Formats: sequence, C-alpha cells, structure tokens
Amino acid sequence: MRLKHRLSLSLTLVAASVLGVSFATAYFVVAREETRHLDELVRAEAKATALVLSKTPGRPSVEEARIADPERPRRVPRHVAVYSVDGEVLAATKRLTPPPPLAALGDVDYGDPDGVTQTLTLGGQQLRVVVMPLATDRPEVMLYAVSQSTVDEDLSYLLQVFSLLFLAATTLTAVLARWLGTRLAADVDAIARVARDVTEGQLAARVGGSLRGSAETASLGRDLDHMITELDRLISIQRTFVSHAAHELRSPLATLRGELQLALRRPRKAEEYKQSIEEALAETEALIALAEDLLALARAQRSPTALDESSDLGDVLGDAVKMARGLAAAREIELVVEVGAGVTVRGARSDLARLFRNLVDNAVMHSPAGERVELSVVEAPGRVKVSVVDRGAGVAREDADEVFSTFYRGARDRSSEAPGAGLGLPIAREIARAHGGEVTLDREWATGARFVVELERRSATTPDSEREPVG
Ligand SMILES: Nc1ncnc2c1ncn2[C@@H]1O[C@H](COP(=O)(O)OP(=O)(O)OP(=O)(O)O)[C@@H](O)[C@H]1O
Ligand SMILES: [Mg+2]
Repeated sequence: MRLKHRLSLSLTLVAASVLGVSFATAYFVVAREETRHLDELVRAEAKATALVLSKTPGRPSVEEARIADPERPRRVPRHVAVYSVDGEVLAATKRLTPPPPLAALGDVDYGDPDGVTQTLTLGGQQLRVVVMPLATDRPEVMLYAVSQSTVDEDLSYLLQVFSLLFLAATTLTAVLARWLGTRLAADVDAIARVARDVTEGQLAARVGGSLRGSAETASLGRDLDHMITELDRLISIQRTFVSHAAHELRSPLATLRGELQLALRRPRKAEEYKQSIEEALAETEALIALAEDLLALARAQRSPTALDESSDLGDVLGDAVKMARGLAAAREIELVVEVGAGVTVRGARSDLARLFRNLVDNAVMHSPAGERVELSVVEAPGRVKVSVVDRGAGVAREDADEVFSTFYRGARDRSSEAPGAGLGLPIAREIARAHGGEVTLDREWATGARFVVELERRSATTPDSEREPVG
C-alpha cells in the first residue's frame, strides 16, 4: 500500500476509534444519570402515594392518591396498583389494565421502605417500576410505575447527535489525512528522485523549495541539497587537484624525455653523456620531491599519523631547521629559533617538522642573501603560537587570499626559475588542522612575511626561553 493511503487510513482509523469510544462512554454515562434521576422521581412519588394510601382505610382509591407531588412533571403517565399479600389486586389505576401479577414482580422486601426498582414492559410500554410495602405496619404491596419514554427519547436524540458528529468528524479526518498524506508522499517522491539522479551522476539535481508536506521534510530537502552542493564542491576540488598534479608531473617528465632523446640523437663523448645523466638525475630528484609532497598532502588530508602523540616543540623546530639548513647555507641565510624548554604540543614530531620545514623553506627562498629567518614562540592557555618571520618582499597583496590553495604559486614565483609546485603551504595547513591547529598569514606584517602556526599545547612549560642561532 502506498504511503499516502497508509497514512490516511491509519489516521482515519485512529480518529474513528477515539471518537467511537468517547461517544459510547458519554452515552452510557448520560443514560445512567437519566435512569438514576427517574428512579429518584419514581421512588419519591411512590413513597408519597403510599403514605396517602396507607392512611386510607378499606380499599384504597388509587386514582386520587396517585397525584402525590404537584411540583413534579405530570406529562408522563403514572400507574399505581395495590396488591394484597397473597397477590390479589386490591386496586389499580384505569390505564394499568391488567396490572401485572404480583409474582411477576419478584420478591418484595417488606423491611425496605425504598422498595425495589426495575424496568417492566407492559402493553408495549417501557415502565420504570418501584415495588414496595404500602406501609411497614400493613401487609399490602404497592406498585408505582412511570413511563420511561422521556428517558428513551432523550437517549435516542443523544444517539442521533453523536452519530452525526461521529460521521462528520470521521469524514473530515479522512479528507485531511488524505490531503496531508498526498503532500508528504509528494515530498518523499521528490527527495527520492533527487537521490536517484545524484546516484546516476547528475550533481546538478536539487530538491529546491518544492517541499511543502511538513517542516521536517522541507528541512531534510535543504540538508540533502546542502550535501549535494558540498559533494559537488569536493569532487571539483578533487578533479582540479588531479589535473594540476598531472600537469606538474608532466613538465619535468617532458624535460627528462627531451634531454634523454637529445643525448641519444648522435654519439657523444663520455663527458657529454655524464652531463646529460646528471641533468636527468636532477629532474628525477625534482619529480621524487613532487611525488613526496603529493603523498604528504594526501596523507595529511586523510589521517595524519598518531593524532594523540605529543612532541617537544624545541625538537620539532630543531628538526625543521636541520632539514632547511642546506638551502639556508646556500643562500647565506641565518636561521634563528627562540623556544622555551619543555613546551609540548599535540602531534607527531615528523608531521610537525614537515609543517615548519615548508614554512622555513619558503622564508629562506624569499629572503635576500645574508638576512635572518626567525622562529619564535608565544604561549597562551592551552595553545602555542609559533611565528616564522623573514625579511623578504612579503606575500603580494593579490596572492594573500590564495597562497594556501593547492598548486597556487605567487606571480613572482611562477615567472621566476625558482622550483616549486605550490604545495608547501597547503600541506602545512592540512597538518596543522588535522591536529586541531591552524596556519595563517599575518597580513598586517610589513617587513617581509610572517606566518603564524597555532597548535594545541599539551603540558606546562618552563618559562626560561633561550635564543640560539642555528645554521
Ligand atoms: N615567505 C614568503 N614570502 C613571500 N611569499 C611567500 C612566502 N611563502 C609563500 N609565499 C607565496 O606563497 C606561494 C605558495 O607557497 P607554497 O609553499 O605553497 O608553494 P611554493 O613554495 O611556491 O612551492 P612548493 O612549496 O610546493 O615547493 C609561493 O609561491 C609564494 O608566492
Ligand atoms: Mg613552498
């Protein structure tokens, strides 16, 4: 069965059951109350009548005695019959012909002045009847009866009203439930259609604002759209990354092939072959470095090693500086590290060293010869900030927004012969973020470039800071 049919059927059934039970309960409560009221009336009138009759000597005149309480409604006929103790009818009102035999009225309780109340059908009429001794000191028994017609009429009217209400409410519920079910089913269909389209590769499919069944389905639709947009974005980032990576690998491979082809074109001297092989080796080194960077980026994005490890910040910066030492020496750059002892940060030593090495390499590459590159640490509660500062030209204003994007290189670096693929900063940022930290460029820094690495601090530090030149 389809959702909309299931929904409308179940809602209608629930509504019908609730209404049915409520109306039946109300009906029975009213019926009991009405009968109780009638019984009170019958008993009160019967007692008054019995009082009049018991004072009448000889055969009582029931027609006169019957009107006991002028306050009570008279439009319903009352009937009275008086029996001797052995069941002979001593007197009866005219319209009660013939009176029911005493034996048919059950046992009479002579000790109970309230008598016994019951319902009898006489001459096709429902009567509420009380049978009681005429008086405690007399042997006669009196029957006093009032037609039940008013109670029956009231109850029949109530039944009609309840039936009409039941029908109207059930029909209305069925109509509303069907309307709601149709709208909800339309929403579910729309969401399922979009999910199917996306599965088939149509990433432009969206639910949009067409869902009106409920706030929940509308919110589900928005979440789905958001998810598809995000998926689309990630896939296009992935595509760009792959095409950039292929491009970056292609250029050195083409150069390598060109050099090898040139070397083979004609016989050469051993010296020339040696030179060609050396150039090919340099290209191969560059290719290996690029492949390593790509791997490092993929690894940092996936799951960096040992997220829960802690490392001494002094060791990390020492390693980074050692790795950059060769380049710094070649460019006559002095590397200065200023770090307190015992500063521990979250992350594996090798991952964090790679992060700082990328920043130090950049700083060295962009520093004029003979200058200094400085690494300094500022501690805050639970955090540590490490600045990497150089005195080069700084990051150009137009590059500042993009330097952390994969394969992005500043205009100056693109046009120069300087090697690089634009992977150093993205790798640094991915490693920092994977450890709950961040790398940012200080855009206010005027004298060169300043990159700030924020990391999670792991334990108390020793305040002594030392300033030691390295490299
Ligand atoms: N210290 C710096 N001073 C000036 N510009 C910088 C500095 N660090 C980074 N940049 C700019 O940011 C760009 C991106 O840096 P990134 O480290 O990602 O790539 P790269 O150094 O060009 O190549 P790779 O690091 O892959 O060898 C650089 O091309 C450069 O334009
Ligand atoms: Mg770099």
